[in-house]
This record gives sequence, structure tokens and C-alpha cells, in this order.
Amino acid sequence: MRLVFLGAPGVGKGTQAQRLAAEEGIPQISTGEILREAARLGTPLGLQAKSYMTAGKLVPDEVVIGIIREKLSELNGAGFILDGFPRTVAQAEALDRMLQENGPHGIQHVVNFEVPNNEIVRRLSGRRSCSSCPAVYHVTDAQPRREGVCDKCGAPLVQREDDKPDTIAARLKVYDQQTSPLVDYYKNRGLLRQLDATPPIDTVYENLRRLLGLRREEARPVG
Ligand code: AP5
Repeated sequence: MRLVFLGAPGVGKGTQAQRLAAEEGIPQISTGEILREAARLGTPLGLQAKSYMTAGKLVPDEVVIGIIREKLSELNGAGFILDGFPRTVAQAEALDRMLQENGPHGIQHVVNFEVPNNEIVRRLSGRRSCSSCPAVYHVTDAQPRREGVCDKCGAPLVQREDDKPDTIAARLKVYDQQTSPLVDYYKNRGLLRQLDATPPIDTVYENLRRLLGLRREEARPVG
């Protein structure tokens, strides 16, 4: 499947993308995670991106388009979940061009995650992220087994710098101004699928699968 997950910061794109990727074996490409990893490692890309991310601004188009070009070329047609890309009309147009270059492998569905702003602020303020791997938790809604410790790799959990109140407000504004035009961009192409992402994580996941027409394997009868 070739999917794009669209939606404001904190709607749960990453949470759902990780789960779907694991269950269906589809690679998840998260530009936010790639940029954070580069910042953790102190690479030139990470150093360039960090000041934008900490301020809640978008990293320049040419930088993220370059990242996606490289990632898509590594996939060998395995499908993908793009989580957090595209985020501007220029990025969406670049993605269309890249997919055309690789043959008739366009996007199949763009899932638009919808959550009211007050719930977004609650989710982002309570989010805790692993300091070492991409795992994500929430202080009340997605708790780790041991407080403050990642279930997957045992590293300490931290609050992302851009999950502080002022930066959350800046990110929501950037979303309204630069990313929300993509809703019409994809609606006009007949690719947009709306998903109410307000319910609990498991419910949203089942609704997402249904929206994408994904069935679970029936248990085989014994004997
Ligand atoms: P990025 O990491 O992509 O941030 P984002 O889009 O702002 O998305 P988030 O990671 O904040 O939220 P999410 O929707 O994935 O929610 P999550 O599942 O974590 O980007 C960070 C920065 O990188 C950007 O600001 C920008 O600077 C740069 N960048 C990235 N891509 C770029 C691009 N294409 N162009 C330019 N710059 C780019 O869930 C949030 C919380 O809610 C968690 O605690 C989770 O446990 C909880 N939760 C999830 N679902 C539910 C639910 N159903 N009920 C209750 N709680 C839930």
C-alpha cells in the first residue's frame, strides 16, 4: 500500500503508522523521526534542522524533499506509509513528480486524521517519547509498563522540546497556514479519506483498518 498520513501535530499519525507498519509489514517513513535522529547524532542535517524544529517551524522544503527522494529510492516498490510528509503544497507536488519518475505507483489513500485542538494540546502536553528509539507514550493514555522507561528498549522517556506550550501553539499555526491546504489538494484528486481520530488508540486503529479495506486473517479451523 502507498499511504500518506495527514493531520495536525499530535493527532496520532505516528502512533497509528507504527502499528500499521508493524502489522502489515509496510515501511513507515516519518520525516520528523528522521530529523530527530539526525539531530541526536549531530549530523549536518540534524544541526540544520534542529533550530527549525525547536521553534515549531517547518524545515525548508528542499531539505525534506531530498530526504524523501533518498528513502523512496531505497524501497524497491515495497509500498510505504508517509507520516508527516508532505506538509506543504510544494512538497506534495515534488512527491507527485518523484512517484511518476518511478513508474505508475501513485499514492492510493491520503488519510486525514481529525482531532479538535483542545484534545491535540492535551495529547501533546502529556506525550513522552523514548530518548533512544521512535516509541511514543502518553502520561495517561498510553503508559509504559515502568514509569519513565521505554518498554521497547529500556531507555529513559523524555518530553520533546517542541511539546512545550508555546511551541505547540506555533506548530498548530504553521499547520493551519502551510499544511491544511493539502486537504483540498488531495480532495481534488479523489485521494482523501477522513478519519475521526478522537476515540481511544485501539478504536482509531480498527477504524483506520476498515477505512483502508484491510481485513484480518480468519483463524483457521483446527483439524
Ligand atoms: P513530526 O515529528 O512529524 O511532528 P508532528 O507532525 O507535529 O506530529 P507529532 O509527532 O507531534 O504527532 P503525531 O500526529 O505523530 O501524534 P503521536 O502519534 O505522537 O515533526 C516534528 C518537526 O519536524 C516539525 O515541527 C518540523 O519542524 C519538522 N518536520 C517534520 N516533517 C517535516 C516536513 N515534511 N516538512 C518540514 N518540516 C518537517 O500522538 C501524540 C500523543 O497522543 C502521544 O502521546 C500518543 O500516545 C497520544 N495519542 C495518540 N493517539 C491517541 C488517541 N487516539 N487517544 C489518546 N491519546 C493518543
